[in-house]
Amino acid sequence: MTRHAADATTRFTLDYRSEAIGRSRIIHADCFEWLSRVPENSLHAVVTDPPYGVKDYDFGQIEKRANGNGGIWRIPPSFDGAERAPLPRFTALSKNERETLRRFFVEWGKVVKHALRPGGHVFIASNTFLSQMVFNALVEGGLEFRGQLIRLVRTFRGGDRPKNAEEEFPDVSSLPRGGYEPWGILRKPLLPKMKVSECLREFQTGGIRRISDDQPFSDVILSGRTPQRERDIADHPSLKPQAFLRQVVSAALPLGEGLITDTFMGSGSTIAAAEAVGLRAVGVERHANYYEMSRTAIPKLAALKVEAEEAAQEELEFPSR
Ligand SMILES: C[S@@+](CC[C@H](N)C(=O)[O-])C[C@H]1O[C@@H](n2cnc3c(N)ncnc32)[C@H](O)[C@@H]1O
Repeated sequence: MTRHAADATTRFTLDYRSEAIGRSRIIHADCFEWLSRVPENSLHAVVTDPPYGVKDYDFGQIEKRANGNGGIWRIPPSFDGAERAPLPRFTALSKNERETLRRFFVEWGKVVKHALRPGGHVFIASNTFLSQMVFNALVEGGLEFRGQLIRLVRTFRGGDRPKNAEEEFPDVSSLPRGGYEPWGILRKPLLPKMKVSECLREFQTGGIRRISDDQPFSDVILSGRTPQRERDIADHPSLKPQAFLRQVVSAALPLGEGLITDTFMGSGSTIAAAEAVGLRAVGVERHANYYEMSRTAIPKLAALKVEAEEAAQEELEFPSR
């Protein structure tokens, strides 16, 4: 790593435990606190996969801060959430649980808006049951909705016959079998009357990077499930595949320069993807075990050559006929 590379991310360390990995940096912090403390208009893009376990959203303390005057708050020890909550059945969330999730994303949208440069993009993983509510909440937090990125991937959700009446209604499923994962594409609003070209010049943000001269980035990506060899490197329950993430991080920085941030870093798959394609990223994780895991997982995931294998897997799952 060059001295220049480390310097570009050092200012985001603040007083948290942190280390440089390649040209990127990982930070052990709560992202709500961290985002509110980094300089305004400093991050170029966010690519992230937030927690969707209801207990993860028990964040009364965060909301108190976010509704205040933008000052700094400290997370009480009980908030550290050392254990990961089991995934809820999203279809069965109570009204209160849905409201808690909504508030979580409104507040996250507000602190992201503070930290992002005008025109900076957010790519955020979601799921079919919650995406509509999550994207609305982010808009309420001040971000602009720019559409969805569809990760085509076979899931095991849905497709079942009505419970306890399977024989009576053999030709019916309660829900379609899931075949995609929706990712929200949002943006911090440009300055008033600013054009995308002006935003690109001033902030290096505002647009999405093309794949090539004749190919713009597409909002549908054919993807397989996360390969076993990536799971062997990073034992995180929500590990996203490198082949997919490398395409997303490449799109997130329109000029191929600046900083990508993953505020819910987990085991560091986004940071690894950025490293693999030669970009710089900052990852924030509050869970000590996952922070530790990312230290070793990022260089190994980044070193993987994934294209050929992933393409083969995709062909198996979505034969091109
Ligand atoms: C869905 S996982 C992301 C996993 C990641 N996609 C990967 O491939 O490893 C969400 C992560 O966010 C972390 N997290 C939850 N709340 C957080 C917060 N307020 N600040 C920082 N990290 C948080 C959780 O510990 C978890 O590791």
